[in-house]
Amino acid sequence: MHSPIVIHDQNGELIAAVVQNGRIDKGMPKFNFPMATVSDIASFLHSLDAGESTAPNFDPKSVLVGNAAAGKAYFNGKGHCTACHSVKKDLAGIGSKYDPPHLQDEIFSAGGTGIFGEPSPTAPPTMVTVVMPSGAVIKGRFVDMDDFTVVLIDEAGNRRTIERDGNVPRVDVSNPLQAHLDMVRNWEDRDLHDVTAYLATLK
Ligand code: HEC
Repeated sequence: MHSPIVIHDQNGELIAAVVQNGRIDKGMPKFNFPMATVSDIASFLHSLDAGESTAPNFDPKSVLVGNAAAGKAYFNGKGHCTACHSVKKDLAGIGSKYDPPHLQDEIFSAGGTGIFGEPSPTAPPTMVTVVMPSGAVIKGRFVDMDDFTVVLIDEAGNRRTIERDGNVPRVDVSNPLQAHLDMVRNWEDRDLHDVTAYLATLK
């Protein structure tokens, strides 16, 4: 119940990343369960947690179960966090900015709530660039896309729905939080706890 993947999961979308890919190197095989099955399993797991994490006596420090030194090594090494962050610049004092549960939340989702969730208002938005056959370029905040349309809020604040036919027009979606979403597949609970313990020391 303390696994961040389970905590952030809503209907199985995050649990699916683990179940359907497995953790082959650790000995967990992958299961080709349909999404409906994963979401049933997720409901079961969430039912076990009923009320626990929101109990009034929940102690925020109880997420500080990791090892700060191991977290520092992970941050600077295997986690590749330094590709985008520096504990001297953007993450300076991060341990004072958030209490431990919110810090762990930020490390996990960077302000997004999950693969299919809506990002928090402070998270940098997903942007989209559409290049029309005429060469005209439309840029804006990404709203939605399927095989037939792409929906965005353009720079003037208007919601626009643009039709798609195969690769026309060309659509480039860029999510600044993509790196965090990609990490969901790879996080080990222990690494996440260690990194949380490390960043919490940066007051
Ligand atoms: C490819 C770039 C990239 C990588 C790699 C990356 N992050 Fe992030 N991270 C971001 C972006 C973008 C944000 C959102 C920044 C914002 O809200 O202004 C973010 C936000 C965060 C935040 C919240 C910062 C705040 O002030 O609210 C934390 C904490 C964080 N990342 C930790 C990590 C850790 C730990 C790792 C390594 C395991 C990592 N990140 C790897 C791009 C990255």
